[in-house]
Amino acid sequence: MTSVHPVAARTDQLALEEVAEVLALAQAAGDTDGAYPLSEHVVLHLRHGGDVPAVHLLARDRDGALAGYAHLDTTDEVEGASAELVVHPLHRRHGLGRALVRAAMEVTEQSDPRGRLRLWAHGDHPSAGALALGLGFERARVLLQMRRSLFAPLPEARLPDGMALRAFRPGVDDEAWVALNARAFAGHPDQGRWTPHDLHLRMAEPWFDPDGFLLAVDERDGRLLGFHWTKVHGDLGHHQEHQHEPIGEVYVLGVDPAAHGTGLGSALTTAGLRYLRGRGLDQAMLYVDESNVRAVALYTRSGFARWSTDVSYRRLFTRSRQRQGDIA
Ligand SMILES: CC(C)(COP(=O)(O)OP(=O)(O)OC[C@H]1O[C@@H](n2cnc3c(N)ncnc32)[C@H](O)[C@@H]1OP(=O)(O)O)[C@@H](O)C(=O)NCCC(=O)NCCS
Repeated sequence: MTSVHPVAARTDQLALEEVAEVLALAQAAGDTDGAYPLSEHVVLHLRHGGDVPAVHLLARDRDGALAGYAHLDTTDEVEGASAELVVHPLHRRHGLGRALVRAAMEVTEQSDPRGRLRLWAHGDHPSAGALALGLGFERARVLLQMRRSLFAPLPEARLPDGMALRAFRPGVDDEAWVALNARAFAGHPDQGRWTPHDLHLRMAEPWFDPDGFLLAVDERDGRLLGFHWTKVHGDLGHHQEHQHEPIGEVYVLGVDPAAHGTGLGSALTTAGLRYLRGRGLDQAMLYVDESNVRAVALYTRSGFARWSTDVSYRRLFTRSRQRQGDIA
């Protein structure tokens, strides 16, 4: 472990006890802020490791307790590095958040001469905006969380003619699904670039349920045309970070561009919601990029309304600007 900043130590590999400390810190912040501060992607990485290297920044108080944490991914050459950070509620407004962002900026500069860095703030908390804007970042991308009651009326799921619905078959549909996902999300790189490994990582999660992973297929040749992958959060206490009533999620919904405009998206949405209701859940949620106007419109028609917002802040700074004292 090396010190990259007076208050933040850097490591590329966390010990098991450190993972537990980070998850406890994130839980404490989530309880206080009403929004869990780390993304699912980062939590998966913490719990299982991964093939993509990550940089961890740890800030401790005088007694050695974890007071702040930042997770930094510097591997995205297209968008640049991204970071998520959290400061324990008892240690806020002492400069730790700013120190963690500055440490992340220093690490980023070592791997990217342009020093590109995105900060993700879950919950659009005013403190995150104040911190990021104060350091010269701009609000770049907005991810909406939408919710819908499953007690509200749900129509029958009417699939377009010639299509049928069935459950995902692990080990059989994997390759065809990855290809369909790439076609459906060609314009949304985060989702569209998923590899079989990304799929298998999720299939190994305790919440994975192939019966809730619905596929729409062409009745003639069995070709995959769309899917609605549902997820149940907080079921049976599997997830320590989700200590709340179980809630259903429209985890990923995708339609092959060849089947756009047929009503398949609405039918798949309804079919998945009916499945979740059949599991005894009373509420469903989903994440969607605010700029994905078609998807937001589909979900709004399906009874979803905005619940919360995740925001990414972006900054592009250069060594020359840094030398001029732009970054204090
Ligand atoms: C955002 C967060 C990391 C800030 O941590 P912190 O250690 O309290 O931040 P700092 O003490 O370094 O504050 C730096 C500046 O940010 C701004 N700021 C931070 N919290 C603020 C708040 N609640 N209200 C207004 N401004 C705030 C201030 O300008 C502050 O400077 P100042 O104290 O000199 O006025 C912390 O509140 C947190 O963990 N929130 C939940 C997770 C999150 O949103 N992460 C994304 C961060 S982009």
